[in-house]
Amino acid sequence: MISDNMKIGFAYTMMTPENLAIRAAAASEGVELAMLNDEKEMLSLDALPAALGDVTCTLDRSSAFSRSLCISYLFELHGMHVVNSHEAQRICGDKVLCSAALAKAGIRTPKVKVAFSSASALDAVEEMGYPCVIKPPVGSWGRMVCKITDRHAAEAVISLKSTLGGYADKVYYVQEYVDKPGRDIRTFLIGDEIAFSVCRKAKEGAFLTNLNAGGSASEFALGAEMEEAVHKVGDMLGDGIYGIDLIENGKGGFFVLEVNHAPEFSKSAGAKIGKVAKKIVQFAAGKAKR
Ligand SMILES: Nc1ncnc2c1ncn2[C@@H]1O[C@H](COP(=O)(O)OP(=O)(O)O)[C@@H](O)[C@H]1O
Ligand SMILES: [Mg+2]
Repeated sequence: MISDNMKIGFAYTMMTPENLAIRAAAASEGVELAMLNDEKEMLSLDALPAALGDVTCTLDRSSAFSRSLCISYLFELHGMHVVNSHEAQRICGDKVLCSAALAKAGIRTPKVKVAFSSASALDAVEEMGYPCVIKPPVGSWGRMVCKITDRHAAEAVISLKSTLGGYADKVYYVQEYVDKPGRDIRTFLIGDEIAFSVCRKAKEGAFLTNLNAGGSASEFALGAEMEEAVHKVGDMLGDGIYGIDLIENGKGGFFVLEVNHAPEFSKSAGAKIGKVAKKIVQFAAGKAKR
């Protein structure tokens, strides 16, 4: 139990299993949640929503990147502490920015080329060599993450993106292919604590390891080097809650592939979901002014 009159904001889109677990953990920790449903909320530019009262910290669990960027920006402008910070969200939510920030921080991450036209995207792919990976800068669940095996595949994906894609698809993110051993690793960082780590095994013959794409999770013990890389990511982004994807290169090394700023954890944490939710509530409550 944290305290009897602790209250934090909780911005959400829908009551996902994670959000239900966080609400239950808050109740058992004695933390009141000022619930803000972004489906219904109308934000003013000059004041925080009245429902927040004198709340000083908000947990931003909005499911849409576009919404959480607005919420975190406006809330921080009015002095609210937001978990995760607007800056961390901005970097994590865009793979171009995230890869660049990781590389700049000296954290090993696969090589990336960024192009803005179909012709230069094809040049980028040809320079990277086959296979390589094209993925949307903004996206999740492995959607539109494509392993490009030859020039014909590259032309097809680039043509589809340029013809059917939206605003974000006109930025072509081309990444070095990592010959992973059929799995990658998801680790969950809360503040300076690694809450849990799992390896995610791709379905037989599949490229994607995402649990929403049919991958399966099992507990994984991070070695010292991986732990160090995970903490470096936390230092780079600032105190927060991050789902970090690590990918082994099959030669004893590994890369940090990407960082998720509003990570799901119901499937990956499994039976630990309640414990993780409790740590999240404790972390956010710890950021509120007392
Ligand atoms: N460069 C790569 N080499 C090998 N596998 C990759 C690469 N990039 C992505 N993958 C696979 O695709 C999955 C989804 O890619 P990721 O960059 O994490 O995007 P998302 O945000 O959609 O999860 C990864 O978990 C991994 O299994
Ligand atoms: Mg991922």
